[in-house]
Amino acid sequence: MKKNKMKELGIVEMKNFLSYDEKIEEKTNTFEKLMTIYEMAITELETKLNILQKEFKVFYNYDLIDHINTRIKQPESIVNKMKKKGYELTYKEMIENINDIAGIRVICQLKDDIFKIRNLIEKIPGIHIEKEKDYVNHPKESGYASYHMIVKVPVNLSKQTIYVKVEVQIRTLAMDFWASLEHKMKYKTDKEVNKKTSKELVNYAKIVNKMDNKMALMNEL
Ligand code: GTP
Ligand code: MG
Repeated sequence: MKKNKMKELGIVEMKNFLSYDEKIEEKTNTFEKLMTIYEMAITELETKLNILQKEFKVFYNYDLIDHINTRIKQPESIVNKMKKKGYELTYKEMIENINDIAGIRVICQLKDDIFKIRNLIEKIPGIHIEKEKDYVNHPKESGYASYHMIVKVPVNLSKQTIYVKVEVQIRTLAMDFWASLEHKMKYKTDKEVNKKTSKELVNYAKIVNKMDNKMALMNEL
């Protein structure tokens, strides 16, 4: 949305909502208020996704969305990530650069559903897609597959509407199964997983992908 249009509608970017030039202190009011706004954004988007889930189930007898998980990044993880990426520890830097403070994971049954869900999210009024990564058609080297979106969600407060960033990950049950196990074994642990295990995990990811493709075909019969 154009800057002028946003102003006209009373929509502000989160970084302009309060004065956030101050240094991050995890146990202050400011931090708590900010996290509350991220929670509101999750509630907002989750509700919209719940409505779509129900609509498809009741009106089309179709389980488009299997289930939804949400999470807020822990203060400690936020600060660690900022340190690791070399950002100044201010709220401004946090809001601008850390895109996954609010996270929603949408799990579906079939691979095709991922793109149906993505297209439905794009059509939700007021939602603005900021970034997308298609690890479904282009899995990561680790074997990781999912569709990632960073979206801006309008949160309507009494005096203004704030645009808040939310990370959305869309994946099949099979991809989720793989990612959960792999995460436990590897991602974000200090332990180096040995080469053999990594190779095996990539191999399992390929098997998961084959299964997802076969399931999609079976569903068309
Ligand atoms: P982060 O700095 O970790 O947020 O990565 P990024 O900004 O490059 O974003 P990307 O879209 O690549 O990954 C973001 C999120 O996807 C991570 O926080 C994980 O939840 C998930 N993810 C990415 N790669 C992997 C992986 O190899 N294995 C698993 N299990 N999850 C992954
Ligand atoms: Mg992350």
